[in-house]
Amino acid sequence: MKSAKELLQHFQKQLAAITSLNTLEELKIEYLGRNGRINQQLKNITQIDPSERREFGQELNTLKEQITQEIELKRKKLLQIESTKQTIDTTLPAKSYPKGSLHLVTYAIEEISHIFEKIGFIRMSYPEVEWEFFSFEALNMPSDHPARDDFETFFMDYEPHKEHGKMVLTPHTSSGQNREMRRLGKPPIRMINIAKTYRPNWDASHVPMFHQFEGLCVDKRINITHLKGTIDYFAKQFFGEERETRLRPFHFQFTEPSFEVDITCDICQGTGKVNGEKCRLCKQGWLELGGTGMVHPNVLKAGGIDPDEYTGWAFGFGVERVMMMKPGIGLNNMRLLYDGDIRVLEQF
Ligand code: PHE
Repeated sequence: MKSAKELLQHFQKQLAAITSLNTLEELKIEYLGRNGRINQQLKNITQIDPSERREFGQELNTLKEQITQEIELKRKKLLQIESTKQTIDTTLPAKSYPKGSLHLVTYAIEEISHIFEKIGFIRMSYPEVEWEFFSFEALNMPSDHPARDDFETFFMDYEPHKEHGKMVLTPHTSSGQNREMRRLGKPPIRMINIAKTYRPNWDASHVPMFHQFEGLCVDKRINITHLKGTIDYFAKQFFGEERETRLRPFHFQFTEPSFEVDITCDICQGTGKVNGEKCRLCKQGWLELGGTGMVHPNVLKAGGIDPDEYTGWAFGFGVERVMMMKPGIGLNNMRLLYDGDIRVLEQF
């Protein structure tokens, strides 16, 4: 007859060799089953001297408990191994995650950049928090000039600069004109500045932070036909070959002459009529794109360029605005772009 200690050692050796739940179950029966090793030992109790029976019984009981515990522990380990085996099954198809998309404004910026890069314009970036000088003085608007009211401005709570005045959030991308003239020192200039701009308005067609894209072209003998040609090129690339543009006289301090650019409406193709009725989108055939004109001599001078030698043109359009005017976009409220509602954004 084996001692309890020997039996335990024997059991532990067998247990260590076990790698599956099935064989563990067999081992359990072998030791703890009705005819198992422990019960076999118990049956032998009659052959033992009565004075030692009590101790023998206790030893067997402890052995039984220990074996039970060790089997349970092993079962847990085997179950754990089994479950990790399942999660690294490399033959299972991968989980698919929902795809993200770029913001509509990001798409527009990429498309606009690409259109102008194709004709040799360089995309530039300038400060978004800027000095008053670059937004106004350098653009032929002295400090008390009423034209500044057209560009309602957020002022920063910051110490003014000795020469450049107060700190502002750029109210238009035209602040980049002087920056670019200073950066290059001398023409030719062909730059496109696409950036955030700020004005305190909030309604269906205005948000306080929006984007503009500004084109600036300065060189010898640049004239208005280059301006019209470039705007036509942009309109046809961005909106479609059939679209036409026109220049309508306007006023800006920093251009002379100045114009507003209109583009034929995509609903009525510039006729102003749909089935004999007035077109509901444009009412008269044309939609407004933005401002443009020949760079004012004072603006060239402020940028260190001789206006007798060089001429140029500039335009500034709203990114959100042109995107909303694109056929098929169907957005009639600019605020939707910035509400962050994923149901709107994921459609594009
Ligand atoms: N900066 C003008 C605006 O924001 C647009 C403009 C740019 C007009 C360049 C003329 C030339 O309204």
